[in-house]
Amino acid sequence: MKIRIHGWAMALLFAACWTPFAGAQMKAKDAGDQKWWQHAVFYEVYPRSFADSNDDGIGDLNGITSKLDYLKDLGVDAIWITPCFPSPQVDFGYDVSNYTDIDPMYGTFADFDHLVNEAKKRGIRVILDFVVNHSSDQHAWFLDSKSSKTSAHRDWYIWRDGKGPDHPPNNWLSTFGSPAWKFDAATKQYYYHYFYPEQPDLNWRNPDVEKVMFDVTRFWYQRGVAGFRLDAVDTLYEDPELRDNPLLPGVDKFGRPKQNQIYNRKLPEVHQVLQRLRKVADEYRAVLIGETWTRDVSQLQEYYGKNGNELHLPMDLMLTELPFSAAVYREHVGAVDAAGGWPTYVISNHDIRRPYSRYGDGVHNDDIAKLMAGFYLTLRGTPVMYYGEEIGMENNDPKRKEDVKDPIGVLGWPIEKGRDGERTPMQWNSGPNGGFTKGKSWLPVPESAKRHNVATQSKDPQSILTFYKEVIRLRKSEPGLREGAYVPLNETDADVLSYLRKSEEGTILVVLNFSASPQEPHFDLRKQGFASAKIRGLLRNAASAHDGALKSIKLDAYGVYIGHISQ
Ligand code: GLC
Ligand code: CA
Repeated sequence: MKIRIHGWAMALLFAACWTPFAGAQMKAKDAGDQKWWQHAVFYEVYPRSFADSNDDGIGDLNGITSKLDYLKDLGVDAIWITPCFPSPQVDFGYDVSNYTDIDPMYGTFADFDHLVNEAKKRGIRVILDFVVNHSSDQHAWFLDSKSSKTSAHRDWYIWRDGKGPDHPPNNWLSTFGSPAWKFDAATKQYYYHYFYPEQPDLNWRNPDVEKVMFDVTRFWYQRGVAGFRLDAVDTLYEDPELRDNPLLPGVDKFGRPKQNQIYNRKLPEVHQVLQRLRKVADEYRAVLIGETWTRDVSQLQEYYGKNGNELHLPMDLMLTELPFSAAVYREHVGAVDAAGGWPTYVISNHDIRRPYSRYGDGVHNDDIAKLMAGFYLTLRGTPVMYYGEEIGMENNDPKRKEDVKDPIGVLGWPIEKGRDGERTPMQWNSGPNGGFTKGKSWLPVPESAKRHNVATQSKDPQSILTFYKEVIRLRKSEPGLREGAYVPLNETDADVLSYLRKSEEGTILVVLNFSASPQEPHFDLRKQGFASAKIRGLLRNAASAHDGALKSIKLDAYGVYIGHISQ
């Protein structure tokens, strides 16, 4: 039987339940300066595509619940579920029409509570996606806002007169291919939308908007949610004078002159509102993760806040855009690590081409997938995985324009095929639709699902899935991997990335061959405090070394070696 408890009673119950949950494995460290979210492996679930419990072809909350044992076995500590709120689904949930409800296509509140409770039993926390910049154009706030110039919610969105007939207020562009202003014939003004026209930007300069949106977070915290991933934080504020953005040379993928978006992205007010939102999160010991697209490491640093009072985990999305290279990764990770904040590494998400397709050379793809796991899961910081990485899912792009579901793929075809390819169903077994649904799947699974699926890879000790489980298990069992300092080694090696994760309780050596040719790096750890280092192998793929005195490690193409170092 399910009992619903509201308000203060829920808050009390929540506080009471929290301690034992945070207990056991985390207690010792929570008392110090390491927090649960620094030790956790986060896992992004795209609910439409994860598991379909009622065979309507679309994944749902009960589907996610049915796979919690799998996630626990994989070693996941927290799942981030992309928007599951009521939505017309123009942007597949990122157009929210009610922030405090569940979309019936995904289930009910009872299903949601059940998911949170079952996750909690397994030590898994639930993070939701907070679409802060915009709502759906079907949200009651926007429907009222557009109804008249004097409506109660008029100022909750950004309405302006045009410069003249067919002349929007300024030159700003929507990132999804259209102008950023849409004319509304009824009230003869334009409204601003950084994303699709169906996603009008909220006016965060209006205190009523801030209040209601902050209350949304409280609503979910009180329902047991452990935090939020904040969507598109960069775009929260716009220049009040609506100045034109300066133009840059060249055109974007939609053929429009490029702009330097100084007046509609990354305004300083973003940091002030994040500080206020953080205060609310702190009341509930909740964690804030950010979708933080940044130009460089110093811009990423700003999202932690000067006093560590903004985001706990601003995602390093730059990593997804760098070339696959030991030297490039060494430089980048070194800079991120040295900058001071707790890094948040991401190699994949629902907006980005899957790494299996991005980095695969057609010959060593599985080894490359293991190499990437050996890399981002052993760095100092918190990794955010994307569903399907652990079985080497490939991008399955639409082959014909008429099959495209993501509107930007329709608009930008064939240069921009949209994001369907990285959002295809999780591949659970080698059966029809990869075992995702018995109905008609909303997106097709690729041929490769026959091999790349959970059932097949679970039985194979050499599979990508087995390798992921092993790396995550090591992250948890080795204090060096959990808390150790990141110490780069052999810094002039262009092909092999090597580092120590060094702590008083143990030191781990990670050696990663980012090339297709065999390598044999030598190691001398005297400068790192090991007069005569000994190595004991913990995990390897396409690599070998004898346990004992550490001299060199032999690596085949894309080989990975992880070992324990002692004096
Ligand atoms: C973020 C989401 C993306 C969405 C956009 C608009 O970038 O990750 O999927 O389309 O915001 O909400
Ligand atoms: Ca369903």
